[in-house]
Amino acid sequence: MRGTLLCDMLLALLFTHGVFASKFQEYILAPKHRSVTPLSLHAVYGDVKNADALCTNVHEPEGQRFGPNSSIILDFGKNIAGTVDFNVRSVSGTDEYIGFSFTESSMWISPYHCDSGTSATYDSPLWFNIPKKGRYAADKSHQRGGFRYLSVWHNSTGTVSLEDLSVSFTASPEMENPADYPGYFNSDSEKLNRVWYAGAYTNQLCTADPTTGNALGIPGTNWYYNGTIANGTSVLMDGAKRDRLVWPGDVVISAPSVFVSTNSLDGIKNAIDSLFILQQSDGRLPWAGAAFTRPGYFPFSFTYHLYTLLDLHLYYLYTGDVEYLAHYWGQYKKAISWTITTIDSSKLANVTSTNDWLRSGMGGHNVEANAVLYYTLDISLQLAEVLDDHSQDDLWKSIMNGIKTSVNERLWDPAQNLFFDNDHNQTPNAIHPQDGNSWAIIANLVDAGRAAAISTALTDRWVKPYGAPAPEAGATISPFATGFEVQAHFLAGFPDRAIDLIEFMWADFMLDDPRMTNSSFIEGYATNGDLHYAPYDNDARISHAHGWATSPTSSLTFYAAGIQITSGGGKTWMVQPRLGNLQRIEAGYETPLGHFSASWMTDPGTKAIIGSFNTPKGTSGTLILPSVEEKVIVKGSKGVVHPVSSADGLKFEGLSGGNYQIRLG
Ligand SMILES: *[C@@H]1O[C@H](CO)[C@@H](O)[C@H](O)[C@H]1NC(C)=O
Ligand SMILES: *[C@@H]1O[C@H](CO)[C@@H](O)[C@H](O)[C@H]1NC(C)=O
Ligand SMILES: *[C@@H]1O[C@H](CO)[C@@H](O)[C@H](O)[C@H]1NC(C)=O
Ligand SMILES: *[C@@H]1O[C@H](CO)[C@@H](O)[C@H](O)[C@H]1NC(C)=O
Ligand SMILES: *[C@@H]1O[C@H](CO)[C@@H](O)[C@H](O)[C@H]1NC(C)=O
Ligand SMILES: *[C@@H]1O[C@H](CO)[C@@H](O)[C@H](O)[C@H]1NC(C)=O
Repeated sequence: MRGTLLCDMLLALLFTHGVFASKFQEYILAPKHRSVTPLSLHAVYGDVKNADALCTNVHEPEGQRFGPNSSIILDFGKNIAGTVDFNVRSVSGTDEYIGFSFTESSMWISPYHCDSGTSATYDSPLWFNIPKKGRYAADKSHQRGGFRYLSVWHNSTGTVSLEDLSVSFTASPEMENPADYPGYFNSDSEKLNRVWYAGAYTNQLCTADPTTGNALGIPGTNWYYNGTIANGTSVLMDGAKRDRLVWPGDVVISAPSVFVSTNSLDGIKNAIDSLFILQQSDGRLPWAGAAFTRPGYFPFSFTYHLYTLLDLHLYYLYTGDVEYLAHYWGQYKKAISWTITTIDSSKLANVTSTNDWLRSGMGGHNVEANAVLYYTLDISLQLAEVLDDHSQDDLWKSIMNGIKTSVNERLWDPAQNLFFDNDHNQTPNAIHPQDGNSWAIIANLVDAGRAAAISTALTDRWVKPYGAPAPEAGATISPFATGFEVQAHFLAGFPDRAIDLIEFMWADFMLDDPRMTNSSFIEGYATNGDLHYAPYDNDARISHAHGWATSPTSSLTFYAAGIQITSGGGKTWMVQPRLGNLQRIEAGYETPLGHFSASWMTDPGTKAIIGSFNTPKGTSGTLILPSVEEKVIVKGSKGVVHPVSSADGLKFEGLSGGNYQIRLG
């Protein structure tokens, strides 16, 4: 009995961690082992002997010798996170020091200072006094959350010889092997493949031990990370270098991309807990978690308040953990009740807090805020169904109807085929926001015609080769707001636009530009390609690993490969591939109920999408395929299945979990 059980468990382990981990492993940027060594030597200054001795695969028995005031720059080839650890072979001199400087971008490489985790111009090196030979290591509060380049500066007058320099990788502490991904993605576009894995890795860099959070307000000299921002083993933060805080808006983008790749959800749960514990007695949830929010200081954002509720929904969706959902349901409803008090005679919420994702002009009858509210109420009705609590259904539905009618009547600008930001400035020069227009499509506030028109108008504004602009935040390109735009193009029926945007903005610019890390995604930049983010005075402060920039990872899986779960743990699902001009795509991920996967190709002659998909036994769902003139045959384990409608794509309903083959007839 016990033997069989053990055997089953081993088999299960093999299945969850063996089979899928090996798929497309070559794209995974996370290290398999936590001790990471520098890939190459980038520069040498002054009298240094065996300057490459600290690099991977170099065996120099004498180690590396630094003469007076000398330094080297090491390149890890990708953004990493961790504590430095090294051995001193020998030292001569009286008061010897070694200082380490860190930078994510090549723009701030210097032996004499780091880029910046703070608002100060630069952060100081991390100094070690070297009185004698032996092993030295930084403690965990002196880990650097994001860096690709590491400089080693010997500022003193004697000589110091170093060997065995490594960085102990501190990101994703909850993962035994950070390179063990149950999810995978591959297509005939190498750009998309690299973007998918860089998004996954970005979120790993943004996941840390919750006692090493908060880079805001720390000094630039002798910096440290020692804020406790959540309970538990790990927490999903906004950025790796900074802020190292829980921002619920960021989680709305990063959580889905975590789910489809590492499926390591511990940091999401701890983040959600850290937000609900800060709820005010009137129902309001905080703009950000501890230690940003603290006793006597409660900054509020209308959208981020709702994002905490959406984060809870995502966690429930990915785990099927009804108990966890039920635990917060009272607080959830209280948060919705507060929001409803902001609805006025226009039937729209009147937003009175200016805080949002650092865009400007938030307030009044804002389209983004009302679209997010509409979407949240829709989700709330689904959760009410799960918990069989229909006490609020009528109220929530009537508010949704009011918002839908009012947004479309009061905020639409037919001259631009876009929504105005609000109703207090509707002049020709008024802002037509990227966030609100994208959200209007995601929230299903608009009909198909209006969705298509918005998609076209947003595409016409692209600033190639840099990205899609967010005029509501100045001359800014926001990978966060553009993440919503990517989803909007897929949902409006224009997968080619979504894929084009991901390829030129995320791959050609955000990976391949030499100022980027070629491995993780930046927080924001300017429409002229400068790595200047309008809200910050100090460009060295910009984070180059920001989870809110990772929408393509989940979007490619959910929309391009088209595998979506629609209820807790994957009990129900919808499969709807959108290949655009791609020839081939395959993707898969794990849920508590089993594996979901799909493998598609575009038939060259007919342009029909053919291939196969697999969903777990005991689940059920819907398949939607594009209509083509040719006959497509869908065959499951119980034989051929037939579409219920073919008006707007071929729709197959009530399919039971299992394997399906889609072939030309
Ligand atoms: C150390 O060397 C750098 C150039 O390699 C120079 O700019 C700096 O002034 C030197 N510092 C001292 C204290 O000599
Ligand atoms: C080297 O840096 C350390 C740490 O900042 C400092 O205490 C020391 O005076 C510096 N040495 C020289 C020679 O500048
Ligand atoms: C963090 O470290 C600083 C400097 O050592 C110290 O002053 C501060 O009290 C520490 N904060 C916490 C929360 O431990
Ligand atoms: C950790 O949990 C305790 C007990 O619920 C709570 O008091 C504390 O505020 C939590 N810490 C954070 C940072 O959320
Ligand atoms: C929204 O509420 C604020 C504060 O109560 C009020 O000053 C403002 O006029 C309202 N805006 C609209 C568009 O009703
Ligand atoms: C960027 O990373 C990819 C692997 O993800 C690598 O093939 C490519 O050479 C790198 N580009 C540069 C310029 O280092």
